[in-house]
Amino acid sequence: MLVLGIESSCDETAVAVVSVSQAKKRILSNVILSQNEKHEEYGGIVPEIAARSHLEHIHAIMRQAVNEAGISFDELDGIAATAGPGLIGGVIVGLMAGKAASLAYNTPFLAVNHLEGHALTVRLLGDVCFPYLLLLVSGGHTQLLIVRGVGKYSLLGSTLDDAAGEAFDKVAKMIGFGYPGAAKLEHTAKNGDSTRFVLPRPMAGRPNCDFSFSGLKTAVRNHYDSLVDSDSETKDLADLCASFQRAISETICDRSQRAINQYKKFYPEGNTFVLAGGVAANKYLCSKITNLANENDMVVKVPPSNLCTDNGAMIAWAGIEYLRLGKTSQLDFAPRPRWPLDESIKK
Ligand code: KG4
Ligand code: ZN
Repeated sequence: MLVLGIESSCDETAVAVVSVSQAKKRILSNVILSQNEKHEEYGGIVPEIAARSHLEHIHAIMRQAVNEAGISFDELDGIAATAGPGLIGGVIVGLMAGKAASLAYNTPFLAVNHLEGHALTVRLLGDVCFPYLLLLVSGGHTQLLIVRGVGKYSLLGSTLDDAAGEAFDKVAKMIGFGYPGAAKLEHTAKNGDSTRFVLPRPMAGRPNCDFSFSGLKTAVRNHYDSLVDSDSETKDLADLCASFQRAISETICDRSQRAINQYKKFYPEGNTFVLAGGVAANKYLCSKITNLANENDMVVKVPPSNLCTDNGAMIAWAGIEYLRLGKTSQLDFAPRPRWPLDESIKK
């Protein structure tokens, strides 16, 4: 089975080809065109610029993905595209390109929920069985869910304000790292003292599994403002990055412990904790979550960094999961700016 996946819901135009034969799964190509440079000067993603850039490049990136995979369009068994949630202009571009190719090559079409792409990526990389506990941490979402099967999600908790990735992005921008600055923040934190600045652990100890990060962001701002004119700037910034990274990771761990308790209540034999989404590229968070999971006799599965952040392979794989179940989408499937994972998914 050969499926092409298109991702265009944010600021990457990404297309990949994934194959499955017997038990063997392979990513034959995985082309990602980042728009970082286009948005950098504005300090964040400008939706109009993103949509226009997707439109300019989608055709060439699709061709490149097919060429690098060493196949032709008419060999494909399916074409999958992100249909939401995301920035609507970009979603429309990728969705229409996928539908057009599906029509032109008379190939089944699969409308994929972007979040489901993140949620299922670990199954492309190994034999991970349902039901597993999922911590989905990206630029737009922060959620804890039980993944019971393809299209079957139980939401345990989500953020009341900012997403975790958004908090990383905003703090990075605030301290002068520009956009996107999360990776630089992680790098800088390596040389910092994470105990120096006292920061809150929002929601810690609450009985549910919800998150909140806006208070943490404000607390970082207050510390940062008090540092201005300091003469040990490099050390201060490293300490602030390390303190923030530790605070947000410990908050996420506190919420995750609640989710583990709930998951174990439903599935006492369940032992898999999956970490997904762009923030899962953060090695410090991964190590904290790994320790937590191990203390709870669970194993952690995290995709490699390039498959944590947005890519076409995760969309192709989600398409394959549906195709294997005999489910495809109609060509009139409408783009969805909002599309919660736990809402029933109609193909
Ligand atoms: O999943 P993703 O690529 O796009 C969305 O679906 O939102 O996630 C992007 C998010 C951004 O907010 C970015 O700052 C964050 O992932 N991110 C990181 C790191 N790399 C990317 N956050 C923390 N540490 C990182 N190393
Ligand atoms: Zn994403």
